[in-house]
Amino acid sequence: MAVVAGVDFGTLSVRVSIVDDRKGRLGSGVAEYPLYRTKQDPNHATQRHDDHMAALAAAMRRAVEDAGVDVMWDCRKGECGICQVKVLDVSGRIDHRDVFLSQQQKETYASLCLCVARAARGEPGDPGSASGEPAAVTLHLP
Ligand code: FES
Repeated sequence: MAVVAGVDFGTLSVRVSIVDDRKGRLGSGVAEYPLYRTKQDPNHATQRHDDHMAALAAAMRRAVEDAGVDVMWDCRKGECGICQVKVLDVSGRIDHRDVFLSQQQKETYASLCLCVARAARGEPGDPGSASGEPAAVTLHLP
């Protein structure tokens, strides 16, 4: 059995779909991000990477809940650690973004806080992926 989370970034929102290779779609979640415009140039519009990443985390939380995965949540901000889950495998690196785990715990890749962590490529602070290969984290979920 394989369960994967697919991510689809649109113009103003991101959707996460969780799919089981035997049962089909288990759940999905959507979260929006803003488009910034300036009065000086009505044709100029931009977005922020931090908004994309925050929306991705929110959409993932909603998809996990919609899939019926029994994860405990509390702060949903990476502060309490109650959503901590075991990491089974990593392709790329984990962008932890929590303040609960110690730096040493983060470096072992043994667990992550599901509410804020994500798979990433490249160095911290660099949103790009030079290789084009997707980053992935395999988790043991309850
Ligand atoms: S819910 Fe508190 S760290 Fe995730």
